[in-house]
Amino acid sequence: MLAGKHILLIIGGGIAAFKSLDLIRRLRERGAEVTPVITKAGQEFVTPLSASGLSAQKVYTELFDLTDEAEMGHIELSRAADLVVVAPATADLLGKMAGGLANDLASTLLMATDKRVLVAPAMNVRMWEHPACQRNVATLKDDGVLFVGPNEGPMACGEYGPGRMSEPLEIVAAVEAALMDGPLKGKHVVVTSGPTHEPIDPVRYIANRSSGAQGTALARALSALGADVTFVTGPADVPPPGGVKVVAIQSAQDMLEAVKAAFPADAAVFAAAVADWRVASASDKKIKKDKKGSLPVLEFAENPDILATVSQMKKGRPELVVGFAAETNDVIAHATAKRERKGCDWIVANDVSPETGIMGGTENDVTLITDQGTEDWPRMGKDDVARQLAARIAEALDG
Ligand code: C5P
Repeated sequence: MLAGKHILLIIGGGIAAFKSLDLIRRLRERGAEVTPVITKAGQEFVTPLSASGLSAQKVYTELFDLTDEAEMGHIELSRAADLVVVAPATADLLGKMAGGLANDLASTLLMATDKRVLVAPAMNVRMWEHPACQRNVATLKDDGVLFVGPNEGPMACGEYGPGRMSEPLEIVAAVEAALMDGPLKGKHVVVTSGPTHEPIDPVRYIANRSSGAQGTALARALSALGADVTFVTGPADVPPPGGVKVVAIQSAQDMLEAVKAAFPADAAVFAAAVADWRVASASDKKIKKDKKGSLPVLEFAENPDILATVSQMKKGRPELVVGFAAETNDVIAHATAKRERKGCDWIVANDVSPETGIMGGTENDVTLITDQGTEDWPRMGKDDVARQLAARIAEALDG
């Protein structure tokens, strides 16, 4: 996958640096050549000796190393690579990058490079959420820097939240996506995913059990084929994939607005489990328990059908609109009718009866319904369904 590709890997100073040694192995297994650069702080966590042993390359640490300058100057070093990867990218490194500082080898390389830069942030959750860090992240994203992670979970410092560096294989996938001139290069695809939360009052909401697994897998697969993906997601269980533009929303109405704002797009795939109804007049104050014991009555209003709205757009409709149909009986008949009623090009139909184990599971058993008829796909992992569907989307947009 990465044969002949040259990665300049900048290892910053964070506890996650130990994972970067495994990252070197994983990249090399796939045929990449990896040149490590370790910052001064990084050397407190991993040694140049381990990095050079694993990469089978010289490791660079100092800006003013005359031998290195004689062999390969920092400008050349930054440009010989196909991609610059920063893992772990500490708050300090992100700050330097956003501010344009160049006072050591790593930051100088990052300023001098003419290649794409992929960063895998790793830091304490408070540092990640700090407005200064988030400002830097926004600046870097505007500059075209690619991000993978951070993931959410327990941290070495004992706290919990976003800030953990992505796992080596997730970073590898992001590297592959960044380097790939896939069939979807230059195409913009909008993917919706996850459940929506419909507020009852400021603290309560109505939701559903969608995990977001299929939509996330799809976004990752489309991005791996080179697509520029906008991932509009409700509050899902699985974290969004790296290398895509994530727009986090809560309600169906927010999702529709976010989808429209993301257009124009070449294709749109609606994998979200959108709530059909919202509470008609959600209270802006917490509804109190009535002392006399009378119960609140919720009135519902219909939510916009995002798939149908987009499918029936008169102007600016994506060339390909794909919906999902999760059914428990007469799957094909219901899904075929749904395709016509909503006006989308394809429907991916599946049987979500409890005995299939599909809802919340890792596998899916789908039928693709197009204007050419129905196609039964064998039962396979949700990732494989995603890859096949992404390949079919690439084929359709090419034609
Ligand atoms: O009508 P139903 O909910 O079964 O349709 C499922 C398809 O429509 C999915 O692709 C889902 O993402 C999309 N949908 C939507 N907006 C809604 C309801 C469903 O985009 N309000």
